[in-house]
Amino acid sequence: MKPTFYVTTPIYYVNDVPHIGHAYTTVAADVLARYKRLMGYDVYFLTGSDEHGQKVEKAATTAGETPLELADRVVKRFQALWERLGISHNDFIRTTQERHKNGVSQIFKDIMGKGDIYLGEYEDWYCTPCETFWTETQLIDGRCPDCNRPVEKLKEESYFFRMSKYQEQLLAHIEANPDFIQPKSKRNEIISFIKEGLRDLSVSRTTFSWGIPVPGNDRHIIYVWFDALTNYITALGYPDETGNYGRYWPVDVHLIGKDILRFHSVYWPTFLMAAGLPLPKKVFAHGWWTVEGQKMSKSLQNVIEPNMLIDKYGVDAVRYFLLREVPFGLDGDFSHSALVQRINSDLANDIGNLLSRSTAMAVKYFGGILPAATEMADIDLALKQKTEEMVATVDKFIDEMAFSKALQAIWEVISAGNKYIDDTAPWALAKDPANRDRLATVMYCLLESQRITHFILSAFLPTTAEKALASLGWNEAVSKAGMAWGGLSAGATITKAEALFPRIEE
Ligand code: MSP
Repeated sequence: MKPTFYVTTPIYYVNDVPHIGHAYTTVAADVLARYKRLMGYDVYFLTGSDEHGQKVEKAATTAGETPLELADRVVKRFQALWERLGISHNDFIRTTQERHKNGVSQIFKDIMGKGDIYLGEYEDWYCTPCETFWTETQLIDGRCPDCNRPVEKLKEESYFFRMSKYQEQLLAHIEANPDFIQPKSKRNEIISFIKEGLRDLSVSRTTFSWGIPVPGNDRHIIYVWFDALTNYITALGYPDETGNYGRYWPVDVHLIGKDILRFHSVYWPTFLMAAGLPLPKKVFAHGWWTVEGQKMSKSLQNVIEPNMLIDKYGVDAVRYFLLREVPFGLDGDFSHSALVQRINSDLANDIGNLLSRSTAMAVKYFGGILPAATEMADIDLALKQKTEEMVATVDKFIDEMAFSKALQAIWEVISAGNKYIDDTAPWALAKDPANRDRLATVMYCLLESQRITHFILSAFLPTTAEKALASLGWNEAVSKAGMAWGGLSAGATITKAEALFPRIEE
């Protein structure tokens, strides 16, 4: 049986249209999913939409629609974008689906049955846009500490989750599992937060109606984060524990942005503890993008729309830039000049040129029929070794979610390929028929190194890799074996590759 790998993105709010921040998490998760499939895992990749709550209700009122009409309309934009971005999710969950609503009611009821959800009364400062209550001391200058908007005092009857009860158990879990929360700096922040003391959490609202009612008391709507987080198991069919839930839970990694780490590393694990269910193996929080040095926001009108980027630069250039430009886990800045620079140097120049030069030579010198390698010289063995080492390095970096380092390691092999051409000078070898075997070996090594490179790159740049592998005459089913040197057989048909990435003139 194949080992399993379950990866999730956050489910996105439908009161906003997709932007580059959403695309970022989703592309990273896609790379992970595609890579693990290459490595022979049985992968389940989940994404979806978060459709309940006051924000969606308000946005719908403003748009003159019902919340479900709004959700139906906006969810299509997310789904269309994922299609264009080549996202290979296995499932898309919407929190308005029956499977989700049933699962949420069930788990709420279970925790209530165990006495860890109880009815009480609440009075605190509430930030409507963030749907979060804050204590007096958490406010900054009387405003929401997250978004800096005004808050209002709200008093309501509410169901509470006994989160305080799980403080020590959660801390012990985090201590015992150093990789549970990543990156490390974020883990430390969460530990400090928990040590300040966990209060019981209000998990129902009576101030709006768009959501899942509390079982047995439908004046109350289940708190949107309780509802949303549960998607990670309702999508697997929970409470039915036999099917996908039994197969894929606990999740290997929840990929999220740093702003929602507390929900994923404090609330969610304690809900699961209360329900008696296993905790996620890893929660990884990535950083935030600014745009040309500024916070991305509607009011600044600088929101980067991924469709516009794809139209202009192509899907793989966008995927590449997002994961190459900034180490995953740190904040980064999006700028058009940086993107163009990456496209022209890394894509058009390095990888694109290498493939078109090499395939053109194979066509010119061998009529497009891949020759066999005969005796390997040191320089050939060095290229082979570099390629093989890259495969191992990439594996390690991907396990660390270090996507930009993985790409860097791949690009070192691409540079080595370009240098190999300069050093071996195939055009000089071609002048003398006595060098025919030598030329054959050089061509084989050059093309095989790129075959492996594009094979592994298919996780990052699926469209490009498919084109490249086709021109390298590789059409075998994807499997881990494809990472090994020697996959290309003599006699394969090589066709001259067109430019993978046209240069951008600006
Ligand atoms: N619905 C919740 C998540 C529930 S998960 C159970 C939510 N949705 S969201 O649509 O507002 O945001 C989703 C993700 O987009 C978050 O991971 C967030 O970090 C990410 N980003 C939003 N703006 C971003 C940037 N400017 N840069 C990078 N990621 C950003 O939160």
